[in-house]
This record gives sequence, structure tokens and C-alpha cells, in this order.
Amino acid sequence: MKASNFINGKVICIHLMVLIISVGCNNDLEDALLSRSDATHFTNEEMAILNQNLNLSQILDNYANQDLPEHYSGPEANESDNTPDNNPITDIGATLGRVLFYDPALSVNNRVSCASCHDQDEAFSDNRLTSRGVNGQRTRRHSMSLINAGFYENAAFFWDERALTLEEQVLMPIEDPTEMGLDLDDLSPKLQQLDYYPVLFNKAFGSPDVSNDKIAKALAQFVRSMQAGNSKFDRGLSQVWPVENEEEMPNFPNFTAEENMGIDIFYRGRNGATCLYCHGTPQHVNDIAKNNGLDLVYDDNGKGEITGLAEDMATFKVPSLRNIAHSAPYMHDGRFESLREVVDHYSDNVQNHPNLNFRLKTSDDPSEDAEVLRLNFNETEKQALVAFLNTLTDDTFANDPKFSDPFR
Ligand code: HEC
Ligand code: HEC
Repeated sequence: MKASNFINGKVICIHLMVLIISVGCNNDLEDALLSRSDATHFTNEEMAILNQNLNLSQILDNYANQDLPEHYSGPEANESDNTPDNNPITDIGATLGRVLFYDPALSVNNRVSCASCHDQDEAFSDNRLTSRGVNGQRTRRHSMSLINAGFYENAAFFWDERALTLEEQVLMPIEDPTEMGLDLDDLSPKLQQLDYYPVLFNKAFGSPDVSNDKIAKALAQFVRSMQAGNSKFDRGLSQVWPVENEEEMPNFPNFTAEENMGIDIFYRGRNGATCLYCHGTPQHVNDIAKNNGLDLVYDDNGKGEITGLAEDMATFKVPSLRNIAHSAPYMHDGRFESLREVVDHYSDNVQNHPNLNFRLKTSDDPSEDAEVLRLNFNETEKQALVAFLNTLTDDTFANDPKFSDPFR
């Protein structure tokens, strides 16, 4: 058994009653560092310091055990959960993550925070085609919604899946010259100077010392805690759960006839094609980048630019559809302004790109000259599908204060 204590940044490892003071064990312990699951509230002394800049409740908000429907916690959800053993969500870790997420001090000129491009009102995406970073430059791609980020089974992030874990991803925008432009070597020393961080890091990790590893862990906890489970869809699914085979998704008692027609199209499909195959888990995510036929020739080759593999060219991550009505515009380049335009695309305009996913083709046999599988929705079906997509909005989540800006 190994117990550890942090005193003034030095680590004292107590190993089998032998007291060893060693700097060498510092890194190992940092890797194994867990945020505290026993912290329940801030003391009056801590509040006095935090209150100068932040509006946090004294009793910690609940991130670790949120009230979510069963389809968020069953075997399928657990299988796709990408939370690593060394960074489970704790209330204090996610609270620290929330402060970091909204803090413009994480950018080189104190102008841009994560929330500048990931807005709670917009499903933690951005309603602009591309986002503006520290010096007003535009990002290359449209911002992504962060809801249900914890449920991508392969845990890869960005449209091109270039970040292999969320813990790795969350530091990348900070040093990206277009986004926040802050050298990662300057990050921890900069935050250490702000009065509220030593208090928060001490509470979360048992030492006032700020480190990039702890910053990454706390940010990842906050992002992973963004789970939206109280939409009309969730309430309906809860009533029919468990669903053995989603291709036979039953109608929902709480849905209108139009919304139930949307279920029919989304899950049971038309002409053999369904949305289910690519957006079908209870969290509406998919864990493999795909091509959905936006163009015959792409300027941006997505995952293919990272791997260099022919089969990955023009494939993109499939984002969660939760709160999708709030996160327009759509696709990696924000080309569609409305859900109706998205539905028109799948119905009428899918292009036969060489990597078009077989789910949208007449055959999955490469030796055959497969055509695009035309869904050809009629007007009523198009409206029904949009009505269905609108049921995925969880307004409780969208307005939940624990995901809002904590700065005064
Ligand atoms: C200047 C705008 C901007 C800022 C600031 C920004 N992001 Fe992003 N974020 C984006 C864009 C654009 C993408 C998609 C980029 C791509 O795929 O190449 C993205 C993608 C992501 C993703 C990937 C989501 C997924 O499902 O793959 C995560 C997670 C994320 N950002 C978290 C953060 C965090 C945490 C911060 C703050 C440390 C942050 N972002 C700051 C614009 C921004
Ligand atoms: C073959 C897999 C596949 C199928 C089938 C599919 N999609 Fe998609 N979907 C994707 C991919 C991949 C993206 C992201 C593409 C991009 O940005 O280049 C996407 C993006 C979307 C988006 C935009 C998400 C965002 O955050 O911008 C919506 C909405 C959407 N799909 C709805 C649907 C609907 C409705 C159906 C059924 C008619 C459907 N999809 C069928 C793969 C698929």
C-alpha cells in the first residue's frame, strides 16, 4: 500500500512504513493523481477568496452522480464510456474544470476562453460558421458540440480524430496559435498567480500547485460531465426501455404522430438506409469517422489528413445529435444552416464520393458499381424527421447553472 501527501510541491511517499523523500516519485504520482471524491463543500475561508472573482455555490454541484435515465447507465452506455481509470469525474474536479473552461486567462491575451467557441446556449458549439480565436483569426473548421463527449467509445476527438484522448485534447486549443495561443510552458505559472486557483487546486488535488496534468484532468472531467438526458426523446425512450433491437424502435407514448413518424424514418429507415447506423447509440454518437457524401471532392480530407490512408480520406467524426436544434450551422464546415437543409442533403443530395459509407450506398461490395442509396423523403417525411431531431433538445441541460459561466 502506498499513501501519498503533497507538502509544498514536494512529494513524500510513504511505502511500507519507510519514509522516502524523493523527487523521482513525483511524476509517477502525478500520473496517478486522482481528484478528491470526498470533497462536498468549500469552507468559509475558501469561499472568502473564491467570492472575489467567482460565483460558486458553497455546497459543490453534483457532476459525479447526475440524475440520468437508465439508458445512460446500462451496459451499452458503460461500454462506450471513455472515462479513464485515472480520471473519474468528481464534483470538485469538474467544478475546477468549469472555472478553467470559462477563464480567458487560459489564452495569451486574456480574451478567449473555451466558452468563446463552445457556448452553453448552442449545445457547447458556436453558431458561427467558423470561430474566432485570440487575434480574431478564424478557425479552420466549425466548432463542435461537446455534449456526450464521454461516450465516444474510441475516445478520439476533433473532426479528424487527431486527439487520442479527451485529456490530450483539452490542452490543444490552449496552445493552438489560432485559438488561445498560450505556450503550455507558461500555462501553469500564469494560473498559479491568480488567487482562486491555489484554493481550487488544493481542494481538488490536495496541493495548491497548478500543473498542466491537473488542468487537463479537470477540464476533461467538466467536458465529460456534459450529459444531456432530459429531452423529450429521453423521457420517451425511458418509457419503452430496454430496447433490444434499435432497428425495431417502438413508437413513444409521449410523442406526436409526426414525431413518431420521425422515429420510423430515423430507426427503421427508408429504402434500406437509416440514420440509426451512424447516429444510433442512446447518446446518438458513433465512434468511427465516416463519409456522408457532402461532396465528390473535398478541400478538407478530415481523418485522411492525419493517417494518410486512402480509406480515411474525407471521413469525419460523427458528432452527437443531442441538442442538435441549438447547434446550427451543421457539418465540419458549417455548410448547412438548418436541420431542414441537413435532411434535404440525406434525402436528395448525397454524393458518391469514393469513401461514401456503404450505409448510404446500394451495395457494400467494392467490386460492384454501387450507386448512392436515394432516400427520397417526401415533404411529410422531411418535416417528421426534423420534428424528431427537435425532440433531442434537453432544455434543463441548456439552462443548468452548473454548466454556466461562474465568473462575476
Ligand atoms: C477559437 C475557438 C475555440 C476555442 C477557444 C476552443 N475550441 Fe474547442 N473546438 C473548436 C473547433 C473549431 C473545433 C473543431 C476543430 C477540428 O476538428 O479541427 C473544436 C473541437 C473541440 C473538441 C472536440 C469535440 C469532439 O467531439 O471531438 C473538444 C473536446 C473541445 N474543442 C474542447 C475545448 C476546450 C476544453 C477548450 C478550452 C481549453 C476549447 N475547446 C477551446 C473551437 C475552439
Ligand atoms: C453513413 C453514416 C451516416 C448516416 C447513415 C447518417 N449520417 Fe448524419 N452524419 C454522418 C457524418 C460522418 C457526419 C459529419 C460529416 C461532416 O461534417 O463531414 C454527420 C453529421 C450529421 C449532422 C450534423 C451534426 C453536426 O453537429 O454538425 C446531422 C444533424 C445528421 N448527421 C443527421 C443525420 C440524419 C437525420 C440521418 C438520417 C437521414 C443521418 N444523419 C444519417 C454520418 C451519417
